[in-house]
Amino acid sequence: MTVDDRQAGAGTDTPTSLAVLASGRGSNFVAIAEAVRRGDLPVRLALVLSDVPDAPVLEKAASFGVPTVVVHPAAARDDQGRYSRDRYSDLVLEELLRRGVEYVALAGFMRLLGGELLRRYERRIVNIHPSLLPAFPGLDAQRQALEYGVRVTGCTVHLVDAGVDTGPVIAQRAVPVEPDDTVETLTARILAAEHDLYWRALKRLVTETLVLHGRRAVFV
Ligand code: GRF
Repeated sequence: MTVDDRQAGAGTDTPTSLAVLASGRGSNFVAIAEAVRRGDLPVRLALVLSDVPDAPVLEKAASFGVPTVVVHPAAARDDQGRYSRDRYSDLVLEELLRRGVEYVALAGFMRLLGGELLRRYERRIVNIHPSLLPAFPGLDAQRQALEYGVRVTGCTVHLVDAGVDTGPVIAQRAVPVEPDDTVETLTARILAAEHDLYWRALKRLVTETLVLHGRRAVFV
């Protein structure tokens, strides 16, 4: 199989389809797509979905030949202009089902998901967060770590539930905080770890069986 065939998901050895949801830069998407291209991550990238029409990740997806779609948050507003997380999630779910997506990776997707989407993709939807959860959930995790004064932080891949960075942990990587770190230098060091951790975690997720003992996620 050629690299292009593999990217297109040709052949029977790459049947699992993965969608990446992202709102911004897309460096984690690129790391995932490169792992697929190298043959290290046995998935077909079925879709990149964004909530931001001009998100740089969309061009990056196109450069890898991955289909893209924007689900605009305005589409999830009712007649009174009220945004509904569940309505938004239903619109995302429609796009995923339309393309036969089996697994979902959130990579800098800045919107909470819920409802039927989380039920349908239970244990098959993950996120990456730039801290060692449960420390420093939410926005600005790197700044939180720096300001708290921890000597070690890192990144976490976790199952997505209805909370903010609260789902069971799938994988973590520790990253040192150096005395002269700024938010920028720390962010860059964590990001490099994210890029190596995420595809490895996704590989386990799609090739192994995940069992939950309470919050403890175990691959068997
Ligand atoms: C990453 O730091 C990720 O951990 C967080 O959002 C950032 C996304 O970066 N959830 P990128 O768009 O993948 O470059």
